[in-house]
Amino acid sequence: MRKFPTFIFDLDGVITNTEKYHYQSWRIICNDLGYNLTKEQNEELKGVSRNKCLLKILQWTNLNISQSKFEALLNKKNKIYLEKISKLNSSNIIDGVQDFIKNAKEQNHSVALYSSSKNAKFILSKLNLHGFFDAIVDGNSVRASKPDPEGFIIASKLTNSDPSNCVVFEDSEAGIIAGNKINMTTVGIGNSIKLNVASKVFKNFQEIKFKDFQIC
Ligand code: BG6
Ligand code: MG
Repeated sequence: MRKFPTFIFDLDGVITNTEKYHYQSWRIICNDLGYNLTKEQNEELKGVSRNKCLLKILQWTNLNISQSKFEALLNKKNKIYLEKISKLNSSNIIDGVQDFIKNAKEQNHSVALYSSSKNAKFILSKLNLHGFFDAIVDGNSVRASKPDPEGFIIASKLTNSDPSNCVVFEDSEAGIIAGNKINMTTVGIGNSIKLNVASKVFKNFQEIKFKDFQIC
């Protein structure tokens, strides 16, 4: 087993503030459906695949739609989202996270990314962060998205780490639940009440004392 824990980062809402664009895009789709999506409901969409998000929304709206309409809405949501992130660049990296990752690597932690997003690699290249990760797992790599732990299991295997020696950084309840299921240490980033299920919660990376996670 590794001496230092492996750090597994979420992307949207942890490395860059793209969650607000997911929310804005889903609100447009919901408006089309005559439904008002609230911020509280959006907490349940965080960390969840595009497909599962739309299934949840349809449950809330009590609407039945055809498969072709379903696919059309998924495509429309993604088109709106991609337009919103078209100008994303390295100035959109959340304060403190890049230094945290650099320090982690200097101190021999393996660093991985697991995002439910199928756009994760595209976003990482826009942020110029691709080279920082020893492993990248995204929405294209898994059959089941968070809260299923599949992606975290893949990330632990790719970094040759035991799940119990991994620390997950997440802004979503779904991501924290997924990490907890396989005994990873879970760290909630942000101030959502939903993060209370995490092992620890911090408002941001500047608050985290790096040595809190040294197991040696
Ligand atoms: C996650 C976001 O990272 O990616 C979710 O937290 C989003 O809000 C999911 O639904 C899927 O993203 P995409 O870009 O593949 O539609
Ligand atoms: Mg997130």
